[in-house]
Amino acid sequence: MLAIHDLVVDIQSSRILRGISLTVDAGELVCLIGRNGAGKSTSFRTIMGFLRPVSGNIEYLGKQIGGMRTDRIAQLGVGYAPEESEVYGDLSVAENIELPTWTRRSSRPAQERIALAYQIFPKLKQYASRGGMQLSGGERKMVSIARALALDPELLLLDEPFEGLSPAIIPTISEGVASIRKLGHGILMAESNIHHIPDYADRLYVLERGEIIFAGTPGAAKADPAVMRVISGAA
Ligand SMILES: Nc1ncnc2c1ncn2[C@@H]1O[C@H](COP(=O)(O)OP(=O)(O)OP(=O)(O)O)[C@@H](O)[C@H]1O
Ligand SMILES: [Mg+2]
Repeated sequence: MLAIHDLVVDIQSSRILRGISLTVDAGELVCLIGRNGAGKSTSFRTIMGFLRPVSGNIEYLGKQIGGMRTDRIAQLGVGYAPEESEVYGDLSVAENIELPTWTRRSSRPAQERIALAYQIFPKLKQYASRGGMQLSGGERKMVSIARALALDPELLLLDEPFEGLSPAIIPTISEGVASIRKLGHGILMAESNIHHIPDYADRLYVLERGEIIFAGTPGAAKADPAVMRVISGAA
């Protein structure tokens, strides 16, 4: 469903992505792993249309989306939970989660999409009327992921869902990701910590200074000493 081919991206005349290629098939969980600064978030921002590629293709469900406007990419069913877990502070948790049901139609009724989002993180029900401003980091992360899911995405981009969270909240997020996986959405997840890669990940790409240096199963990655040298220092 997503096929990136030879993608080159510059930020302020520095080359950040040096021709990366990757694919995500329907229903797959694919991880993009790399150290801080490797270019994971840049890849996601480019897929979402915040950055314009210098060259290369981003094909999603048969359409070229490279350089397309962000709102159109979201309309096509690409959900995005950014690393900074953006939550609208002046909206309630419920309003944050319901937002995509207003901005994108899908075959699934809005109520069902909202119910699914709460099903992933049941704790959010208790905070439904709370303002976005009053949330902890972990709660913001849950809202951000739940909102991306309420878009009813075919493809969900999760940028470091465990980043900066206290160890106590990590199992909740991890269970949420596992539940989303069972719903059958394609997922591309960025990670800088090998220990956070779910053991049910289908495939893994290792990104090092803007280049993909490995593509394969998590098992094959762990058996490759050169790959492990890169990603074990990536915590
Ligand atoms: N707005 C920007 N201006 C200048 N340089 C940037 C900008 N955004 C990213 N970069 C640079 O691009 C490179 C890749 O950054 P990116 O955020 O994609 O890495 P990352 O793999 O997501 O890292 P992290 O694990 O820290 O989130 C880094 O060298 C970073 O300094
Ligand atoms: Mg990042």
